[in-house]
Amino acid sequence: MISIKNVSKWYGEFQVLTDCTTEVTKGEVVVVCGPSGSGKSTLIKCVNALEPFQKGDIVVDGTSIADPKTDLPKLRSRVGMVFQHFELFPHLSITENLTIAQMKVLGRSKEEATDKGLKLLDRVGLKAHAHKYPGQLSGGQQQRVAIARALAMDPIVMLFDEPTSALDPEMVNEVLDVMVQLAQEGMTMMCVTHEMGFARKVANRVIFMDRGQIVEDCHKEEFFGNVDARSDRAKQFLAKILQH
Ligand SMILES: Nc1ncnc2c1ncn2[C@@H]1O[C@H](COP(=O)(O)OP(=O)(O)OP(=O)(O)O)[C@@H](O)[C@H]1O
Ligand SMILES: [Mg+2]
Repeated sequence: MISIKNVSKWYGEFQVLTDCTTEVTKGEVVVVCGPSGSGKSTLIKCVNALEPFQKGDIVVDGTSIADPKTDLPKLRSRVGMVFQHFELFPHLSITENLTIAQMKVLGRSKEEATDKGLKLLDRVGLKAHAHKYPGQLSGGQQQRVAIARALAMDPIVMLFDEPTSALDPEMVNEVLDVMVQLAQEGMTMMCVTHEMGFARKVANRVIFMDRGQIVEDCHKEEFFGNVDARSDRAKQFLAKILQH
């Protein structure tokens, strides 16, 4: 579903990604972790063509991002993205947040979009909040709306960039529960997260990045079960985050 092939990217002189190669097959859940500044967000934004890269290619469901003929807005509309800061439209109601892109980008009627949006809102447990504005919801609730909004576009894959790291601890689980459910339903997911409980529960593979490189890319059982075989950098990192 996603094939990342020898991707390198620079910000001016600074090389942020170095020869990154990996794949996410249909229905697979891949967790991306690594220290701050290692390039996780950049890599995931490249998959959604939100950031250009200078070398290599990324193919999403058969469509090459590097190919100048590719219709990038069309591709983006099929790749769901959920960010750390939910980025809902503050001046629009929850229902409007859930329907605007369905109508503008996919050409759905208001009725159709509302029907779909409200079904998804129900699925993330927030049906009663449809008429509210984002500012009237908690962080965890806003993030669940953001997930519902992404799902309303019928994405072929979902990308998450630290969806729970800006939340108060007691709101983390309500968002992770929605993500676990999605994973169990067979959604293809690439998730930047340090929630190792989530990774252990639903990830197929774990990617560990350091200084712009994919240092580890292995099955979950191997990543967590065979710590001795991990790189020193991954060991240090795991030792730090698994203490908590
Ligand atoms: N627009 C930009 N211009 C220049 N450098 C940037 C830009 N965006 C990110 N960088 C740099 O690229 C590197 C990777 O950033 P990125 O945000 O991908 O890291 P990350 O692994 O997601 O980190 P974090 O865990 O803190 O979110 C960092 O050194 C960052 O300072
Ligand atoms: Mg990041």
